[in-house]
Amino acid sequence: MKPREIAPGVLWVGAEDWDRRLFDSLIPLPDGTSYNAYLITGRDKTALLDTVDPAKLPLLESHLRGVDRIDYLVAHHAEQDHSGSIPWVLGRHPEAVLLCSSLAKGMLIDHLHVAEERIRAVRDGETLSLGGKTLRFIYTPWVHWPETMSTYLEEDKVLFSCDWFGSHLASSDLFIEGVECVAEPAKRYYAEIMMPFRKIIRQDMEKIGGLDIRMIAPSHGPIYRNPASIIQAYRDWTDDEPHNVVVLPWVSMHGSTALMVDRLIAGLAERDVTVQPFNMATADIGKLAMSLVDAATIIFGAPTVHVGPHPALLYAVVLANALRPKARFASIIGSFGWAGKMPEMIKASMPNLKVEFLDQVVCKGMPKEGDFQALDRLADSVARKHKELGLK
Ligand code: FEO
Repeated sequence: MKPREIAPGVLWVGAEDWDRRLFDSLIPLPDGTSYNAYLITGRDKTALLDTVDPAKLPLLESHLRGVDRIDYLVAHHAEQDHSGSIPWVLGRHPEAVLLCSSLAKGMLIDHLHVAEERIRAVRDGETLSLGGKTLRFIYTPWVHWPETMSTYLEEDKVLFSCDWFGSHLASSDLFIEGVECVAEPAKRYYAEIMMPFRKIIRQDMEKIGGLDIRMIAPSHGPIYRNPASIIQAYRDWTDDEPHNVVVLPWVSMHGSTALMVDRLIAGLAERDVTVQPFNMATADIGKLAMSLVDAATIIFGAPTVHVGPHPALLYAVVLANALRPKARFASIIGSFGWAGKMPEMIKASMPNLKVEFLDQVVCKGMPKEGDFQALDRLADSVARKHKELGLK
């Protein structure tokens, strides 16, 4: 797509990446992504905000072909999908000064080998006039790395937020009015990279709370012309109040754990608790991450392989431990053939989860009537705990 104007003197000069299906060799991208860069031309100076993933550098090159001068290159975030083409821009524009947060300076030197003398760290809250266009730099740590900052364009009331509020979504539509069509990709993105830092993100939200924001222009996905709904979604995702939801990652080898999962799903449903099961043999880990955003309870279901949990289930445990969701309760169900330490090993793999453990249900071989009754009691416990929290 060609450069497009998002506000007077402000051009989108980024790149769609329609076919990308994996990020960081980890995160599924079912809808592709975009790397949004923006060129702001003031009366006196010109600034480029972020660049694109190096794989899409030819698109950035073509967008900037007629641009003679870039005075400032703003790096909101040192991750390479935004910063990776900085060396090319600095090479083409020897006049450009690279602006970033104080923490980003060292990271850009380490990751991209940018010469230190080309970089100037800006202060939190510092403003820079381009002539009729005033950039205000706002440190917004942990959306997604600790060095990340955002830029507020005062005259046009646009917040350039980089990963924050973004979504991995390639789209020919540059703008979105509400949040509906990005609700899933934006939540998926938050879940995968920002959930662990929600307490700090709440502080970031407070920081921008006093700004009159007419538009949010993130560095992935569409631009929000009516940003209230995505801001509200972030308030919900980052608060400490879980929903009446159990997320149930599980895997089975010969059917014992699958029978237990079926019984537990039925028991929870009868008690008006929403269950989101994920068979780890086939699960989309992005959807699992999204479920972890809201769930009050996590129950892991696993058979025993040798002495420990099935590795596919352990993947879910490690993921939940890394994402540090707001869940309050956890439990374990599953089976073993002759002996093993499956529950102990699962618990030892999730030290970051500050949860109350509810009685686990682990059976030898195929579950028997007593095991099914224990699963019903676990469903009772979950429903009671959720009610005590006032969850509906
Ligand atoms: Fe889109 Fe954290 O980079």
